[in-house]
Amino acid sequence: MGKSTTAPDAQKRIEQLRTEIRRHDYLYYVKDRPEISDAEYDRLFRDLSNLEAAYPELVTPDSPTQRVGAPPLEELKKVRHEKPMLSLDSVTDQEDVLAFDKRVRRELAKELGREPDDIQYTVEPKYDGLSVELVYERGLFVRGATRGDGITGEDVTVNLRTLRSLPLQLQTDADPPAHLVVRGEVYMRLDDFQALNRRITERGEEAFANPRNAASGSLRQLDSKITAERPLVVTCYETMAQSGSLPLAHWDELEALARWGLPVPFQRRLCRTIEDVVAFHREIEPERDRLPFEIDGIVVKVARRDWQVALGEKSRSPRWAIAYKFTPRKEITQVQDIVVSVGRTGTLTPLALLKPVEVGGVTISRATLHNADEVARKDIRVGDTVKVERAGDVIPAISERVPVPDEEREPPFTMPDACPVCGSAVAREGAYYYCSGQAACPAQLKGALEHFASKQALNIDGLGRKTVAQLVERGLVKDLADLYALTKEQILTLEGFADRSASLLTDAVEKSKQASLERFLMGLGIRQVGQHIARVLARRFGTLEAIMQADRETFERVHEIGPEIASSLVSYFGEARNRLVIQRLLQLGLRIEAPAEQGHRTARRLEGKTFVFTGGLERCSRDEAKRLAEVLGGRAVSSVSKRTDYVVAGKDPGSKLDEAKRLGVTVLTEEEFRKLIEAT
Ligand code: IVH
Repeated sequence: MGKSTTAPDAQKRIEQLRTEIRRHDYLYYVKDRPEISDAEYDRLFRDLSNLEAAYPELVTPDSPTQRVGAPPLEELKKVRHEKPMLSLDSVTDQEDVLAFDKRVRRELAKELGREPDDIQYTVEPKYDGLSVELVYERGLFVRGATRGDGITGEDVTVNLRTLRSLPLQLQTDADPPAHLVVRGEVYMRLDDFQALNRRITERGEEAFANPRNAASGSLRQLDSKITAERPLVVTCYETMAQSGSLPLAHWDELEALARWGLPVPFQRRLCRTIEDVVAFHREIEPERDRLPFEIDGIVVKVARRDWQVALGEKSRSPRWAIAYKFTPRKEITQVQDIVVSVGRTGTLTPLALLKPVEVGGVTISRATLHNADEVARKDIRVGDTVKVERAGDVIPAISERVPVPDEEREPPFTMPDACPVCGSAVAREGAYYYCSGQAACPAQLKGALEHFASKQALNIDGLGRKTVAQLVERGLVKDLADLYALTKEQILTLEGFADRSASLLTDAVEKSKQASLERFLMGLGIRQVGQHIARVLARRFGTLEAIMQADRETFERVHEIGPEIASSLVSYFGEARNRLVIQRLLQLGLRIEAPAEQGHRTARRLEGKTFVFTGGLERCSRDEAKRLAEVLGGRAVSSVSKRTDYVVAGKDPGSKLDEAKRLGVTVLTEEEFRKLIEAT
């Protein structure tokens, strides 16, 4: 089939962009010293995506754009690790750490035949995630696996490829070894974890109990597109095998990994004595709440690698390292009541009101119970004694009930039949219960307004929770559109407002009338449509009308939009009440800006491009193919000239193919043409 000719300029620019993006990933994830803003990064990324869409033949698997996931797998294949992946012995008491040092000293003396000089230790945070093995061949990431039983793990290569902090290619100028196997931890940042749980519960699925479970559940997916949506990061802390020699000290080994482009622990320290280790532990324990991710202790490693080898390992753990854990953040208390809160989308969430208890320095008096099934599974009732757990600043959760002998228990908790806020009927979907009141339910209306006014949405300054509550309670606002009918006089009647603050709020409301499509979509609070999906929709469709008119199939054809999001969109826009509110918003002066130019380019990505089709196509007729190109803004013409952008050559192409080759016009196979039109 016709070999594609490509403009050498495009190839060059693509290479440049990839190198630049890789450099910024490195600066961000390894050096923690970004040089450009997120917006600038996004721009580079978009330029690359657009170019690759135009030249699909230039897409390579190691391109930064290819972190979107691969077709789903049937199962996760088992793989044998090159070396066993050991685990660590763990201790929580200072005495046990001192005893570890003594043991190391004794055993080293035996191995070396003399008293060792000062034993130094490298200490690092103990990341609370899941351990992975990463294999690089000639600088390219070729395989990754979970720990499994330590001997064999699960092949999660395609899933790991979606992690932006994992280099697909090592820094070649730093001369990485031809064969390199490293070990690291995959985890989720706390803020990302909370946002993910919010998304998941809104979808009516069960929330993850903690960031570790979320990381593990996200990585061990058959469908890597799901992993791609999950905010996972990786940090590497150990070389398991490599060609050539390694530095003598663990510290330098980490530095080498960082030079090759791998993220390594930032908060590491070289300790001269075991007392320094204890001091580090003491220092970092209170810091753990300020770290953006969960750590459950520190890992103490003998600094010299030749001594590590001399000390060797037991069956499951090395003799040269130990996990020095923090005191667990779990406390015991009583459930005083179980109440039900109503969220923005109407979801009812059971909340336990607790007898206040201090967990890791913070007083806890309520804990989420997520949903009715979870309450039933853990069998939590009013009056029960329970263990509460706190992960960073995440909302505390009840980990388990502590049975008390001879206790008399209250009857099991049941969800109410009527919404505790508005009294509307409660509907059920799987484990989830919803209030059917929608905007008639003050709790939902308040949530919807707060969301609409939030920073990521219409960004209405001064319209916070308290103001929203008053507006709803006084009946001044009954739906989103009413916000734009508010007068300054009405605002002045609210508590806490004076002339100036009322003017500021009316100005802010006025200013928000100019909204981007992306922010507006996000602000509507459609289930499953968060910031990212709103952006995808805005770029793909370009206008609100196009989105409102789209049917399920059209949505599902968009990359990243699956059946659940599609049906949520269709049902939202299918509801007369929602269409009416949108209509009123527009009547009241809301102007929706078309997305930035690249949005149009995505929607009408082939704008101005001319196509010539020759030969027989397999998947559709030539006429259909022409129409497809035209829908995306392209033009189909019948004869090849220098100005033709693409010649699509099917079976038995005629003289047009020869003409294209003679003129140096890009030739696409049917497959390549498909990719070009399907790429988002
Ligand atoms: S070193 C042979 N370093 O903790 C030594 N492990 O409880 C290999 N972990 O399975 C481990 N942070 O998943 C090491 N900085 C760190 C770590 C770390 C987290 C995990 C690792 C291991 C578990 C042991």
